[in-house]
Amino acid sequence: AVAAPGGSAPASRAFGSRPVLAGTGLEELFAWVDEIAALTKPDRIHWVDGSRAENEALLREQVAEGKLIKLNPEWRPGSYLARSHPSDVARTEARTFIASEREADAGPTNNWAQPDQIRATITPLFEGSMRGRTMYVVPFSMGAVGGPLSHIGVQVTDSAYAVTSIGIMTRVGTSVLEQIAAGKPWVKTVHSVGAPLEPGQADVAWPCNDEKYIVHFPETLEVWSYGSGYGGNAILAKKCFALRIASVIGRDEGWLAEHMLLIRVVSPEGRKFHLAAAFPSACGKTNLAMLRPTIPGWRVETLGDDIAWLRPGDDGRLWAINPEAGFFGVAPGTGESTNVAAVETLWGNTIFTNVALRPDGDVWWEGLTDEVPAELTDWEGKPWTPASGRPAAHPNSRFTVSAAQCPQIAPDWDAPEGVPLDGILFGGRRATNVPLVVEATDWTHGVFLGSNISSERTAAAEGTVGELRRDPFAMLPFCGYNMADYFGHWLQVGQKLRFDRAPRIFQVNWFRKGSDGRFLWPGFGDNARVIDWIIRRIEGAVPAVDSAIGRLPETSDLNLDGIEVPASDLDALFEVDPDLWLQEAALTEEFYRTFDGKVPAALYAELAALRYRLKLA
Ligand code: GTP
Ligand code: SPV
Ligand code: MN
Repeated sequence: AVAAPGGSAPASRAFGSRPVLAGTGLEELFAWVDEIAALTKPDRIHWVDGSRAENEALLREQVAEGKLIKLNPEWRPGSYLARSHPSDVARTEARTFIASEREADAGPTNNWAQPDQIRATITPLFEGSMRGRTMYVVPFSMGAVGGPLSHIGVQVTDSAYAVTSIGIMTRVGTSVLEQIAAGKPWVKTVHSVGAPLEPGQADVAWPCNDEKYIVHFPETLEVWSYGSGYGGNAILAKKCFALRIASVIGRDEGWLAEHMLLIRVVSPEGRKFHLAAAFPSACGKTNLAMLRPTIPGWRVETLGDDIAWLRPGDDGRLWAINPEAGFFGVAPGTGESTNVAAVETLWGNTIFTNVALRPDGDVWWEGLTDEVPAELTDWEGKPWTPASGRPAAHPNSRFTVSAAQCPQIAPDWDAPEGVPLDGILFGGRRATNVPLVVEATDWTHGVFLGSNISSERTAAAEGTVGELRRDPFAMLPFCGYNMADYFGHWLQVGQKLRFDRAPRIFQVNWFRKGSDGRFLWPGFGDNARVIDWIIRRIEGAVPAVDSAIGRLPETSDLNLDGIEVPASDLDALFEVDPDLWLQEAALTEEFYRTFDGKVPAALYAELAALRYRLKLA
């Protein structure tokens, strides 16, 4: 029976029933929900109101069904462990599609699909896909509800795990429905794990389907996701909406949706600066977002760790918000010595996915503590000891936790108007060539640097870990339109900024290695030393050395008090080998050629100028 009472207002709304609100805008929502229900045929419909009681009921239910393990409240109150199906552990980029009307509006770095054709392919998959399950209707806002930079959406899903995750990662609740009722445009997102249940059929801990489709329709503001319960495939507000769909809205409206962390840096003199940084998945955004500087006097306030929306303001500055409300962070490598703020954030009220379980009912992962527990249950639920010869936690295991729980969250982190940016950082995992930090000479050069980001693959998506790939602006898997048009859009946004108020652009690389294979830079809290230089550049307090690839620090201007970086390592961190860089330039040209002549001329001019400088060097 479908519980969707309409018409007269009940005295007190039944749990999960359809809300009764004034406003004609809801008719479209109700009709859409009915349509999706008619297609997917759930046993029940539950309208999510975002209340605490509802959240607790959903968590209890998942524990009773064996989908979540309740952690020992003595160590980790209000926290749970989910174990995914071993085949459903990361985003599936090959199954992710942009279904724009014109083929030229997608690709070449993302998969285009003709909208009618892909609809014809996926509709039969959704036919009856929610049988035996509850269909949840989740209204959410990206950015503070009603904020000038905010956007809203609704996700229908047959996964309670997705509902509880969306509840942490976004603002969920009836106040969003009021916005819809008032006529604000909203994005329609449909998610099914693709595992209908026959009457009497027992459920599994992590339902999913071998066949997966993550399909975006930017023109009609829709996302359809089938077959996966994991992160970016299932929390559709995140990568699907806040990056792929939002990047298209931003292209049309003159702003940018970016895969960026957002921080406020407070200098020893108490001056405040705002930085955004784009690094590919699992390349250090959450870590930098929660930086605990190792140099005295500096402080970092966290504003966001994964997504930022950037909009030119009337004042000629670039304003940024974090549209999310939580962190879906990489667990392995997160520990007291690397990211103590994250460890403190995770004290409770956290959903962990694919980490290991300790015998005392707490969680563990590689890098959480130096000491490795003698005995664990690994992410697949199998007994594990240090002798097992495999990681106890999956390399892409994650935590889902509310942003407000971060001990260094900025007090105004959800201010609707956001913060004005002083600097933008681009980075990736590069064992060779790319220096610790280099400053762009101007906006266009910065866009050139962003377009050229390449990085060694990580476990955040399916594929071969370690392989070098181009990941322009760290947006390769997330740009919702044509990547060359996106480069052009970045150039255009720069033109809307006052030249003396535009954020300065830097490239950083924490991951350069010596010939012996060890990281040359200590990273983590010591990245504050690079931030310190960046801030002093923004303030105009230190000179820089012009090089063929951009402006480099005078190494004596880096604050290295209290750490030992051998002079030879320091030289190696900043070495710019013209021959190797000419090879990089050749690869850039090869990369640009894959765009059918659409790469903006200004970026080709940057490439030509780079080659000229390298030949002189
Ligand atoms: P997504 O959530 O996938 O977008 O990842 P992210 O960019 O937020 O990456 P995160 O901060 O979670 O870091 C991923 C991995 O990189 C972790 O294992 C970290 O320990 C490691 N890492 C982060 N910062 C540094 C650094 O400065 N140096 C080194 N060597 N490793 C780092
Ligand atoms: C990433 O892969 O960049 C993530 C995790 O932040 S996911 O939400 O799965 O995209
Ligand atoms: Mn990410």
